[in-house]
Amino acid sequence: MDELSLFPVSTSINQNGHLAIAGHDLVELASKFGTPLYVYDSATVETQIQRLNHLLKRYYPAEAILAYASKAYLSYQFAQKLARWGVGLDVVSLGEIHIAQKAGFAPSVVHLHGNNKSPAELQAAIEWGIQAIVVDNLDELELLEQLASRRQTKVRIWLRITPDLSVNTHPHIQTAHMDSKFGLHIQNGEAEEALQRSLSSPWFEVSGLHTHLGSQIFDSEPYRMAIEMLCEFAARNNYIPAEISPGGGWGVRYTLNDPDDDAEAWVRTVSGAVQEAAIHYDWPYPRLVLEPGRWLIARAAVALYQVGNQKTTPAGTHLVAVDGGLADNPRVALYQAQYTAKVAEHPNAPPVQPTRIVGKFCESGDVLISQVNLPKLIRGEHLAVPASGAYQLSMASNYNYAARPTVLWVENDSVQVLQSREQVEQLGWLVHKPENDK
Ligand SMILES: Cc1ncc(COP(=O)(O)O)c(C=O)c1O
Repeated sequence: MDELSLFPVSTSINQNGHLAIAGHDLVELASKFGTPLYVYDSATVETQIQRLNHLLKRYYPAEAILAYASKAYLSYQFAQKLARWGVGLDVVSLGEIHIAQKAGFAPSVVHLHGNNKSPAELQAAIEWGIQAIVVDNLDELELLEQLASRRQTKVRIWLRITPDLSVNTHPHIQTAHMDSKFGLHIQNGEAEEALQRSLSSPWFEVSGLHTHLGSQIFDSEPYRMAIEMLCEFAARNNYIPAEISPGGGWGVRYTLNDPDDDAEAWVRTVSGAVQEAAIHYDWPYPRLVLEPGRWLIARAAVALYQVGNQKTTPAGTHLVAVDGGLADNPRVALYQAQYTAKVAEHPNAPPVQPTRIVGKFCESGDVLISQVNLPKLIRGEHLAVPASGAYQLSMASNYNYAARPTVLWVENDSVQVLQSREQVEQLGWLVHKPENDK
């Protein structure tokens, strides 16, 4: 399989021999908007949404919805597009709630996650009347009950259940194991206590159960096990969930070494497990809520960098430094994430040497790609890194006072700026003079 399959669906090589997305030459975009530059392809996001909706229709006989996990990437204009496409939203902070509101989401398709939601976040969610607040722990249940009774408002909740299952992914993105900070664990009785307490409270409508196993998962079997455990737990407590959310987490390909994308297996397994449980316990089919983040958005974007200095170390490694790195993409340092790249000016040129792509930040761990076979690179050329749409910009920082990059959204007939590059003068906290500073 060709590496171009890792790029957005509308990627091509144009008459200049350059990489293009939705017909827009990446070299021209880089010279017009500067680098690092993130380019999102509308067609890829739309294709992914349609694929999942189609699979849900095919495999689940009752109502099912997609709630995009905003933490993967969110901006105001992107959220507007999602709202127009009829996707729901999983939010985790006041900032994400605010964007969802401004972008035109109906509260009935938004739910709030988080293991330590602030009173302000809970209040905002109650006031807006969202689909569900996903209760993570017993302390939060108590706080939420106080807030609800103070406002004399009944609050719709889901319980986040931790089935104490380990899945095969990087330890930093596992979330449902025995030692996880997330959710109400089944093993120690928290989950049962939370369910009993919330069912007997006049301030809660317990509309569903949720679990999230982790991220970048390619095996659907743990989803089946988790759903079986969730449903067995509900049945044991005489509770019939109206909604079940097995979270998100389905994996994407960053390089050709990653497994094939088999989202069909994911949807088929999840839908089958929920149906089987409903039949087994004689429940009406619950509404199924999937929460993909990475799967909907990762492939949609390419990160573009400009080639700078090069050197070969005494250990024999050929290093090429680019003008971004750790600050716009912390995934490599956090998870040892693997990427590949193509030269935007001549994507088909044959590779001549193994190359390590490093960033410009003051950390030895600022390595963007530990090894990729590339043609000889020339200063000023551009590297295009595919599968850059998820958990890069949303985790980007101002490390070394770097400005976060420009983000573009491209369609066949348009280039839209979703976010402009930060300017040093705009970073108010940088130039803010403390009051007692004479
Ligand atoms: C509760 C929850 N749901 C969904 C997601 C989305 O995961 P992914 O982007 O891997 O699909 C996350 C990611 O951390 C999450 O914590």
